[in-house]
Amino acid sequence: MLEDYPRLGGSVVADDVTRQPLSGLMSGPVVFSVPAALAYRELICGAVAAVCRVLGRRARGPAIQELERFTNELVSAVGEAFNNSVIHAYAGRAPGFVELELSWTADEVTVEVRDTGRALDLDSVPPPDLSMPHERGMGIYIIKSLVDDMRYTAGTPNVMTLTKHAHTFLGLPSEPGPRPPP
Ligand SMILES: Nc1ncnc2c1ncn2[C@@H]1O[C@H](COP(=O)(O)OP(=O)(O)O)[C@@H](O)[C@H]1O
Ligand SMILES: [Mg+2]
Repeated sequence: MLEDYPRLGGSVVADDVTRQPLSGLMSGPVVFSVPAALAYRELICGAVAAVCRVLGRRARGPAIQELERFTNELVSAVGEAFNNSVIHAYAGRAPGFVELELSWTADEVTVEVRDTGRALDLDSVPPPDLSMPHERGMGIYIIKSLVDDMRYTAGTPNVMTLTKHAHTFLGLPSEPGPRPPP
């Protein structure tokens, strides 16, 4: 599934080819802002996948599987959150923007999804009836099941914060590049 997303982080390729460190580890955060329309979902999902790919560029062996699973799960969670901002927060309102901020440490990635639409009342969202799964009403449940922590703060903007732990591929030290000629 990773290959489904465009390699927005073209520098990954250059890095692999030249074996030059990308200025060490990126410290972030990075922010993406798109109009609140479903047409931008693919772009947002691709951007999240690209950041994961860059963060995991030193992964080898089993860490590659964790990177792939991590990326697919984070992309799915962010995709649901993005859908909700577009469909629910701006319902009946002039569509604004959805902003994503990605930051990371050596063992977790955090994504803030921000909108300036109607606030979500998390307490009023009932858990889905899993004995009769429906197409609607699964998004919040899916998000919670794919990340380690989900918080929501209503305001201007409203902020949904998703945090996901990674154990094997974040914070790997850069491999040394070729020595410069004397
Ligand atoms: N970002 C949001 N802003 C405002 N309301 C939201 C937001 N996300 C979810 N909601 C509300 O919570 C409900 C449940 O969301 P979700 O579980 O994703 O199911 P669905 O999107 O299929 O209705 C939505 O129907 C909507 O009323
Ligand atoms: Mg939804």
